[in-house]
Amino acid sequence: MDLGLKDKVAIVTGSARGLGLATAKRLAAEGARVMIADINLEAAQASAAAMLSEGLSAHAVGVDITNSADAERLVAETIGTFGAVHILVNNAGVPRDKLIVKMSEEEWDIVIDVTLKGAFLVSRAVMPHLIAQRWGRVINISSRAHFGNPGQANYSAAKAGIIGFTKALAIEQGRYEITVNALAPGFIATEMVLALPHFEKIRERALAAMSLQRVGVPADVANAVAYLASEQAAFITGETLHVTGGRYG
Ligand SMILES: NC(=O)c1ccc[n+]([C@@H]2O[C@H](COP(=O)([O-])OP(=O)(O)OC[C@H]3O[C@@H](n4cnc5c(N)ncnc54)[C@H](O)[C@@H]3O)[C@@H](O)[C@H]2O)c1
Repeated sequence: MDLGLKDKVAIVTGSARGLGLATAKRLAAEGARVMIADINLEAAQASAAAMLSEGLSAHAVGVDITNSADAERLVAETIGTFGAVHILVNNAGVPRDKLIVKMSEEEWDIVIDVTLKGAFLVSRAVMPHLIAQRWGRVINISSRAHFGNPGQANYSAAKAGIIGFTKALAIEQGRYEITVNALAPGFIATEMVLALPHFEKIRERALAAMSLQRVGVPADVANAVAYLASEQAAFITGETLHVTGGRYG
């Protein structure tokens, strides 16, 4: 199936590693040119270099998406490098898990800032370009945690917020042939998840609640993002696609 992504330009935030990198590679494998945007410039450069060596089109940029000047610079550098921008994947996110009685204000703020404010700032910077070309795809990475997870009041709030943000933008921007969707991954093996405290306990709880009896892999998410970014998904907007192996709630 041709996804129609050849020569499209995509920004993927938080793509130095994990789901972002898998998504960047998947889009590039379809012929897209991809900005590897990450707060960790060294890792972003290494990932972009590895992609280039595999014949994939990629360019690294170091940005903190919670900073509006960085968000603007990211979009300017994308246009400067590739001449356009068509697809934005708001993927960067961080967990700071604690029960609420032990959660600091800083742990609340960083999770909300990276996930929600970051998605807002980069979307705001990209949108005028999508509107001008009357075509665009925005895919926001939420999480199954939007249903609520113990120890994740900050993360669950941010990921539920992303779904409201997605619906509002979808309504606002539909007239310009811009679709905006959220993707809610379940339990996917990445560095972030492997580093979680009580990983084994979380894994057992996840498997017990899932229809498909396996932990997800980054490609499961990347394939779904590629579909939502494609021409085939042109009539889908404001939705939340759960990529959870059949776990709801
Ligand atoms: N892995 C899972 O099981 C899972 C499940 C549901 C949702 N998610 C979500 O998917 C996304 C990616 O998760 P992952 O597991 O690949 O995480 P990860 O920690 O492996 O990767 C996140 C990347 O984001 C970057 N980043 C962090 N703060 C940033 C900032 N301020 N500006 C720019 N870049 C920043 C990090 O440097 C890192 O490279 C996150 O939003 C996460 O919440 C993951």
